[in-house]
Amino acid sequence: MELKGPLCYVLDFDDIYNYAYQTAIKVKRSEWRPDAIVGIARGGWVHARIQCDLLGVKDLFSVKIDHWGVTATKDGKAKLTCPLTGDVVGKRVLVIDDITDTGESLTMAVDHVKSCGPADVKSAALMHIAGSKFTPDYYGVEVAWAWEIWPWNFYEDLTSLITKIFQGEKVKEMSTMELKKHLREYNNIVLSDDQLSKIKAHMGFLGTIEYPLDKAWRLKE
Ligand code: ADE
Repeated sequence: MELKGPLCYVLDFDDIYNYAYQTAIKVKRSEWRPDAIVGIARGGWVHARIQCDLLGVKDLFSVKIDHWGVTATKDGKAKLTCPLTGDVVGKRVLVIDDITDTGESLTMAVDHVKSCGPADVKSAALMHIAGSKFTPDYYGVEVAWAWEIWPWNFYEDLTSLITKIFQGEKVKEMSTMELKKHLREYNNIVLSDDQLSKIKAHMGFLGTIEYPLDKAWRLKE
C-alpha cells in the first residue's frame, strides 16, 4: 500500500545496542584502535558513548551539526554550530553518528576533525543508507531509505509526524482511533495505547495540543 507520508521504523534500545555491537566488531577486526571518540550532537551521542565502552576509549568529545529540515525529510542543509570540544592533536579519532543519510553531517564533521591536527580519522554509524554520498569506515547495517525513529528521539519525532497528519488531514481534532489509523496510513507506524497516551501527554506538555483531559487530540490554536 502506498503511504501518504515517509516510511518510518520505530527502533528500541536493543536494536541500537545490536547495531553498535556489530559496528564495534568491525572496528576490532580491522585492528585499528581509536584513542578518542567524537560524537556528533545530537544524533551520534548515545552511539558514541556506547562505542567508548565497547572499544575501551576514555576520551569522548563532541561537535554539533544542525540541519535546516524537519523529521522524516531527506533534505536539510548541514551547518557546524559547535566546533570540536577537545584536543585531538596526534590522536587516532573515530567520528560517530547514528545514520548516514545525505552524508552531509559526517562529511562535515570528519573534515572539521581533520583540520584539528589528529594522526588519523575514521568514521562510524549505526546504520548506513544505501546510496548515501558518504560511506563510513564502519557501520552496523546497511538499509534502504526510511525514517528511523531512535529511542532517544521518540517523542520529538512522533510530535512532528502527528502534527503533519493534522495538517495533511486538514483537521483540528482527532480521536485516538483515527490517529492510530492515520499513523498506519501515513508512516506504517503501529503504536500501543500506552505509547499513544504518553505521546499525548508530551504534546500537551509542549503546548502542541490542548492539555489532554478528554479522549480527543485537539490542536491548540
Ligand atoms: N537523520 C538523518 N537521516 C535520518 C533518517 N533516515 N532516520 C532518522 N534520522 C535521520
